[in-house]
Amino acid sequence: MNPVKRAPVTADEVATRAGSDTLTVVDNRTGKTCEIPIKDGAIRALDLRQIKVDEHDFGLMSYDPAFNNTALCKSRITFIDGDAGILRYRGYPIEELAEKSTYLETAYLILHGELPNAKQLEEWSYHITHHTFIHESIKKFLDGFHYDAHPMGMMISTIAALSTFYPEAKDIFNEESRRKQTYRLIGKMPTLAAFAYRHSLGMPFAYPDNELSYTGNFLNMLFKTTELKYRPNPTLERALDILFILHADHEQNCSANAMRCVGSSHVDPFSATAAATAALYGPLHGGANEEVLRMLMEIGSVSRVPDYIKRVKAGEGKLMGFGHRIYKNYDPRARIIKRIADQVFEVMGRNPLTEIALECERIALEDDYFISRKLYPNVDFYSGLIYQSMGFPMTMFPVLFAMPRTSGWIAQWEEMLLDREQKIARPRQIYLGHEQRRYMPIDERR
Ligand code: CMC
Repeated sequence: MNPVKRAPVTADEVATRAGSDTLTVVDNRTGKTCEIPIKDGAIRALDLRQIKVDEHDFGLMSYDPAFNNTALCKSRITFIDGDAGILRYRGYPIEELAEKSTYLETAYLILHGELPNAKQLEEWSYHITHHTFIHESIKKFLDGFHYDAHPMGMMISTIAALSTFYPEAKDIFNEESRRKQTYRLIGKMPTLAAFAYRHSLGMPFAYPDNELSYTGNFLNMLFKTTELKYRPNPTLERALDILFILHADHEQNCSANAMRCVGSSHVDPFSATAAATAALYGPLHGGANEEVLRMLMEIGSVSRVPDYIKRVKAGEGKLMGFGHRIYKNYDPRARIIKRIADQVFEVMGRNPLTEIALECERIALEDDYFISRKLYPNVDFYSGLIYQSMGFPMTMFPVLFAMPRTSGWIAQWEEMLLDREQKIARPRQIYLGHEQRRYMPIDERR
């Protein structure tokens, strides 16, 4: 269809089109009108291309820095209603999953689209559990890092290095190969994370224990010392499992977009996951939980909160753990995390920074600066307090985000690969630089 017409839009024409799923655009540069189909609440950006000043014109583009209003894909994985504070994986509310499910069950749901039956869950857990060991050579890379290397730096490098051990992972359109790499990625992330942590302490690595749950084994690899068998505290094990459920996916955020974008070049999933992990490391994304704790320590006492908030309002910094591109309401994950915090504090003692965090939230939720910008606590605001109480150093906080997010990343990657509409990601630009210039020899340059 070539919907470009030359003619002003008359009242009759407007009346005929009323109720149709199209958008009529009048290009005032030319006086031409154009009718663009609307499907699923969106127009196709490529449909704008037909809007031209003349036949030599490239055609209209949409300009959307930071993808504020651009749908990159059609997805069936995660639903968020940011205004209502709703998060669902494959249609299941996050609150229900956090109450009734386990992380591995949720990961299966995210990846397969349905909750597993008992046999499927058993098989799934078996495969993940039996892919937790890492090649002994990976320990040599870890040994090469300084004792104070940030564990996210170690994670990004070792995840990428996994691709060199499994060259068959390049066979990305082979379903069997994708399944194998999925077991490996989900299975090995806790081992890499725990080994990075032990390296920073100079402690010997503790190997996976197949008799423990996903999170129980992770705690074992982190904290086991001389005991023959490590027995995780059930409250902490479950708290961590719920935190993992809450972090499993979050639709098209910066790291999911990195996974899709890098994966769209048809690189292997280990390399794409390393890119996603790097995206998550930033303080505006998964690095925010670490920044929240640093901020709370900098504030130092409840009495200094008003002064800190004043500085934030004056543009001297951000209230870390507040605000979200999508949520313009309380992040539903933050609500659940607040409840888990109480359970963890009962076992480990109350984190002294909690009072400062509560005061920040109390003041911010009553302050017009935050109300008018719809800035509410996000997932990172309270998670760091729990992690700290559980004995994790701050540098491990983003790692605790990356591990469970791996299932979401793989689901996003696979959905992208199997979507026939997707191609290598390649945005356009609006070039505002120089026209062609004469090359100037160095002795002529001022
Ligand atoms: N503290 C103070 N002001 C803020 C904050 C904050 N945490 N977040 C946003 N604002 C202000 C911002 O300055 C802007 O004000 P103005 O309109 O006067 O210029 C307005 O609110 C809109 O902010 P924005 O930067 O346009 O919003 P965005 O959607 O681009 O950014 C965000 C979202 C999460 C990056 C941002 O809110 C932020 O930097 N928050 C702190 C970091 C953080 O907690 N990140 C974790 C996000 S949740 C976990 C995850 O998905 O990774």
